[in-house]
Amino acid sequence: MDYRRTYVRDLFNLTPGTEASAYGWVKTRRDSKGISFVQLSDGSCFKDLQVIVNEGVIAADTLKVITTGACVRFDGKIVASPAAGQAVELEATSVEIFGAADPTTYPLQKKGASFEYLREIAHLRTRGNSFGAVYRVRNRASYAIHSFFQKRGFHYVNTPIITASDAEGAGAMFAVSTLLEAHEGPSTDGEKSKPVFKMKSMNPEDDFFGKPAYLTVSGQLEAETLAMGMTNVYTFGPTFRAENSSTSRHLAEFWMVEPEMAFCDLGGNMNLAEEFLKEVIGDILNHCEDDLAFFNQRIEPQLLETLNHVVDSPFERLTYTEAVKLLKEGGEKFEYPVEWGIDLQSEHERWLTEVKVGRPVILTDYPKEIKAFYMRANEDGKTVRAMDVLAPRIGEIIGGSQREERLDVLESRITELGLPLDPYWWYLDLRRFGSAPHAGFGLGFERLLLYVTGMKNIRDVIPYHRTPGHAEF
Ligand code: 4AD
Ligand code: MG
Repeated sequence: MDYRRTYVRDLFNLTPGTEASAYGWVKTRRDSKGISFVQLSDGSCFKDLQVIVNEGVIAADTLKVITTGACVRFDGKIVASPAAGQAVELEATSVEIFGAADPTTYPLQKKGASFEYLREIAHLRTRGNSFGAVYRVRNRASYAIHSFFQKRGFHYVNTPIITASDAEGAGAMFAVSTLLEAHEGPSTDGEKSKPVFKMKSMNPEDDFFGKPAYLTVSGQLEAETLAMGMTNVYTFGPTFRAENSSTSRHLAEFWMVEPEMAFCDLGGNMNLAEEFLKEVIGDILNHCEDDLAFFNQRIEPQLLETLNHVVDSPFERLTYTEAVKLLKEGGEKFEYPVEWGIDLQSEHERWLTEVKVGRPVILTDYPKEIKAFYMRANEDGKTVRAMDVLAPRIGEIIGGSQREERLDVLESRITELGLPLDPYWWYLDLRRFGSAPHAGFGLGFERLLLYVTGMKNIRDVIPYHRTPGHAEF
């Protein structure tokens, strides 16, 4: 057995009469008079292969084992299919069963199981239509992202996952420590004991890194150091946030794409973000046709229309102040009233993108109070050179800014916010030695996937989600 062989997706291109083998997992088997129909999938494409087993070709007790979930190889010959929906099928001459799946206990029996239920069996849901499609789109999106930046001469860099500095200054970090040990707790009669924690020391100096360390919330600060020497760089990696938000758009572990550009201002940053989203979405439209057709049909009507529209029309660009004016004058009743200075809620973002504009909107120049410390201060003393790209259905999909490159302004902003200067000494050095105007942004990869698949819950566009109370698998 070798990976160099034909996959299900290749079999559809073979001419009738060709001998072929098909490896995969059985979706369904249906027996009718003198013939059995098996739907087989190997995840290589959206379509299942139909396998025809004529009576007597496979021994009856072997055929019995070919049930939903079983893993098999069929050998046979490609034939023209008389049925609608597929050009060819495989007429089996023999079968090898790699692994049976007991129909009385296999959890993925029913068609139409809810996404909530499928999350509980996330280790098996890959075999269903929806998740195969999600993961293939996820794969293509990653490829398109790398290709977008590589074509433009951006260098892919890896920033640390464990860090001692809070990149967003928002304090939503997971501590990384070896001082904490889980022990078997006391067992009460008959009850299973639960693990309990014990601290080996209360002194951070005794810890693995000799000081408090955390999982990173963003690779931005380190990406900035790399841009200040390599000009255009990007990261694409996991980030972690210990926010206690159980919404359909938040994960505790998510993937972020973060380009950072020296000699670039907010205007250039917006251009990059718009070009980036259009090219990546366009690439997915071109390469994931069957998967997107499925999402369009089953998950989000008008998905294809929306995505094509996004690729073809310019994004709207508004300042925060203009957006607040539109929201106040729009005559819409919001749960959270709009006033200049508030952090926009998802109802406001959705109204702007869905009702007012009808396509993605880039909002800029937010009040400094609601944005991170590193954003460049505007002359008005009230706003910063921030930008959020908002998408219909999703709200914020990208967050970015031009960075504060002036040492004195940055230091006083950090101090003003009550953050310590110490952990940022190296970040401040960039402003001390050869500072340059620069800008960048972060795309939430799973938010992009929600957008392009039409899936409703962010837990369903990552293979294994981490959210408050959930770290299974
Ligand atoms: O707006 P954020 O917090 O920006 C940053 O982290 C900057 N350091 C990025 C940069 O300028 N290099 O996060 C960026 C994006 C958001 O727009 C959103 O799409 C996504 O990351 N995001 C999340 N996605 C899933 N779950 C969460 N809890 C997320 N928090 C942010
Ligand atoms: Mg943000």
